[in-house]
Order: sequence, then structure tokens, then C-alpha cells
Amino acid sequence: MSPFSSSTREIPAVSGVPRHVAIIMDGNGRWAKQRLMPRVAGHSRGVESVRNTIAASIDRGIQFLTLFAFSSENWRRPADEVSFLMQLFVRSLRKEIARMHANGIRFRVIGDLSRFDSSLIELITESEELTANNQRLQLTVAANYGGRWDILQAVERLVQDFPGRQEGFTEDEVAQRLSMAFAPEPDLFIRTGGEKRISNFLLWQLAYTELHFTDILWPDFDSNALDTAIASYRLRERRFGRTSEQLTAVGSAGIPPAPHA
Ligand code: IPE
Ligand code: IPE
Ligand code: MG
Repeated sequence: MSPFSSSTREIPAVSGVPRHVAIIMDGNGRWAKQRLMPRVAGHSRGVESVRNTIAASIDRGIQFLTLFAFSSENWRRPADEVSFLMQLFVRSLRKEIARMHANGIRFRVIGDLSRFDSSLIELITESEELTANNQRLQLTVAANYGGRWDILQAVERLVQDFPGRQEGFTEDEVAQRLSMAFAPEPDLFIRTGGEKRISNFLLWQLAYTELHFTDILWPDFDSNALDTAIASYRLRERRFGRTSEQLTAVGSAGIPPAPHA
């Protein structure tokens, strides 16, 4: 059972710093194209932004950082770009995992791993096991991930767990089987690269997340850009369906949970 409540029921604890930040790292190809370089050069440079964003997140006290690295639709790209991305994933993970472990980072991958090479699956499993007791930052990489896949696999598990159930299922029963059941729902979503869409990222979990879109291309994303996103988040009033007056009258702690989801 997840220790975190659903935003459709209770108001999560609000602090100045978002507890969970989820990022669509977009714009690598355009960054490279602007410099007359091959698209894949943008992916390589994007790894540096990942490293900087992890460090800045730890620095700012963010507890969960979730990065969309490869969508279930990205297999549609040219085969050589897909293969470059896979190799980059392997190389970066091999290079960084010891340092991540030393820095107290817990590493996880969410997504349908069945399409990956067995060597990559092994590397992911080893990295997850190595860092399993770390608590400083929970870093999740979404790879071959799709929000629809996630909901579908949760429902399939639910049906397996309760064969023949007649009375239907609850939101919590689905949420507990989603691949991010270990984490609170994202407080802040960031998409770089200028597109204003979710592209099949965490569909269920983003229901009440604050959205921040920036034109900055992922390889140019840095700690200042993260601070801009956090500053924008801090100006938001998260109401979760309630009225502004309800929130200001008693403070979020005094508001009773919704009678039903
Ligand atoms: C994001 O950058 C990285 C992945 C999707 C793997 P893109 O490769 O989508 O870059 P643009 O959007 O073409 O610029
Ligand atoms: C979203 O970026 C997926 C990742 C960043 C991994 P895309 O570049 O694939 O998204 P679309 O195709 O523009 O929606
Ligand atoms: Mg893109």
C-alpha cells in the first residue's frame, strides 16, 4: 500500500519546494540542429543536463525526480537514433551509478523493460539493487514508458489479483498497481523544448500536477531554469477541486478529505 494519498481525495502537504518533480526532457534534436550537428549530439549533451538537474534537485531538497528518457512511441524513430539512445543509456548508467550511489540517490526505471536487451535489463536491475536503501533523492527514469501502458498493466494486475470480482475497482486499487505507486503524485511537471503536451507521460499521476512549459531546449536546461520552474510553482494555488476561500479560511490542514474520490 502506498504511503501517499491521492490528490483526488486529500490535499497533499504543501511546502515551498515541490516534493516530486517530473520532467519531459525535450528538444535535444533541435538543439543539435541549431548547431548543424547530428541529432544524436543533442542526446549526448542532454546527459549533462540530467547530471546538473539531479545535483540541483538534491541541493533544493526535492525528494523525487522523474525523468522521461524514452517513450513507448520513440521506437518509431530511425533505427540508428534508437540504437544510439539505448547505447547512451547503458554508457551513462555504467559511468554514473557509483557516483549516484555515493550521493545517496535511489535509482529506479519505470516502463516496459521487456523490449530491452538482456544486458541493459541486467544493468538496470543491478543499479536498482545497489541503490535500494538510499533516501536522499529518489531518481526514476521512464524508459519505454507510456502512461496508457502503465494504466493498462495496473488494470491487468488488478484483474489477476481479484479474479471474478463483481463490484468493480477503486481508484486506490488501480493507483497501488501503477509503476510509480512508491511515490507521491508529481507536484510539478516541467516540459522543455516548447511543446505544450503530455506525450503519454504519467497520465494518471498528473491529474492535479502543476504544469510548467519552457522553450529552453533540454541541453540548455540548468539550475537557473529549474529555479524558474520552482518559482512559478510557488505562485500557484493548488485547490484540488475546492474553492479558494476554503483554502484560505482554515488552511489546508483543516480541510476534511473529500467524501468520495
Ligand atoms: C528528447 O529530445 C529526447 C527523446 C525523446 C529521446 P528530442 O529528440 O525529441 O528532440 P526534438 O524534440 O526532436 O528537438
Ligand atoms: C517526449 O518527447 C518523450 C521524451 C522526452 C522521452 P517526444 O519528442 O517524443 O514527444 P513528441 O513526439 O514531440 O510528442
Ligand atoms: Mg521531441
